[in-house]
Amino acid sequence: MPLVSMRQLLDEAAKGGYGVGAFNVNDMEQIQAIMEAAKETSSPVIIQASRGARQFAQDRYLYHLILAASELYPEIPIAMHQDHGNSFETCKSAIELGFTSVMMDGSLKEDGKTPTTFEENVEVTKRVVDYAHERGITVEGEIGVLGGVEDGHGAGGSGLEHITDPDQAVEFAERTGVDALAIAIGTSHGAYKFTKKPDGSVLKMDVLIAIHKRLPNTHLVMHGSSSVPKDLQDVVNQYGGKLKETWGVPVEEIQLGIRNGVRKINVDTDNRLAITGAIRKVLWESPEKFDPRDYMKPAREAMKKVVAQRMREFGQAGHSGDYKPVSIADIAKGYKDGSLSTRPLVASK
Ligand code: G3H
Ligand code: 13P
Ligand code: ZN
Repeated sequence: MPLVSMRQLLDEAAKGGYGVGAFNVNDMEQIQAIMEAAKETSSPVIIQASRGARQFAQDRYLYHLILAASELYPEIPIAMHQDHGNSFETCKSAIELGFTSVMMDGSLKEDGKTPTTFEENVEVTKRVVDYAHERGITVEGEIGVLGGVEDGHGAGGSGLEHITDPDQAVEFAERTGVDALAIAIGTSHGAYKFTKKPDGSVLKMDVLIAIHKRLPNTHLVMHGSSSVPKDLQDVVNQYGGKLKETWGVPVEEIQLGIRNGVRKINVDTDNRLAITGAIRKVLWESPEKFDPRDYMKPAREAMKKVVAQRMREFGQAGHSGDYKPVSIADIAKGYKDGSLSTRPLVASK
């Protein structure tokens, strides 16, 4: 099956009332792990690459690896997504390469660190939407700023500094026409999100619910949504790692989000932990080993296990065969003739 539009994938998720995990990749083994999990659970998938990933792997490798996945697993709908695009040019280059979806993260300036003004965010995001929709490509925007820094990207801080304002979310969705809207509700990228199990004082599910009430048909996106499970932390530390105690986003909070309009859930850190733990274990227990396959195979298997579990928990499991993918050219026609709406439904306060 050819790569599909993320918009179609999220529209179907909304119909079915489930969420779809968006998993970050940097190499072949991570793509293989996601595809094996998708096959095992019959799930549609979003595979995403950050700017750092595109640089690390040389993005043509990533593109062709994902194309290989679409050939090897023809029954699985795959959307290929640019994570945290920092400029119009980054999104344009992803589209030219063959990504079927881009995130224009206009919440930060092109440096990926400094928060923008609302007007700057609207302007750059709308520019990407106009360019992308003409080509049938999905756009995710972000309003509000996440905490933490990953690979040089991020405003830093705790995640509570720039929580999304529901009125701004409504205006942003109306003025940009984005297909999916990432919001900031107190989460951060990376392993260190919360110093104890998060309650409503640090994880603002009430803000998410308020935004969903005002924008009932808008696909919401939760970034920084790794759960950072203790068992994964423990494996890393048991075999020589030095992770400090930390808490992520509990799966039940994500499930509450899914009941309130969340359709895309970004997960990277949990997979990083699973891979690192598995590699550490092999090298710790068998220091004589030096064939990369001896540790990459268990690493891939560990990531597959996490991804399959999330696919079941988010509800996407069992939905890979629900619909016939529409071609990207037909998606472009849909944006043009208005059958694919870009005007959000707005409910009064
Ligand atoms: O945005 C955060 C993702 O975990 C990607 O991280 O920029 O280090 O590849 P990265
Ligand atoms: P985590 O660091 O919580 O996995 O978040 C990943 C993410 O939001 C990628 O955009
Ligand atoms: Zn993110």
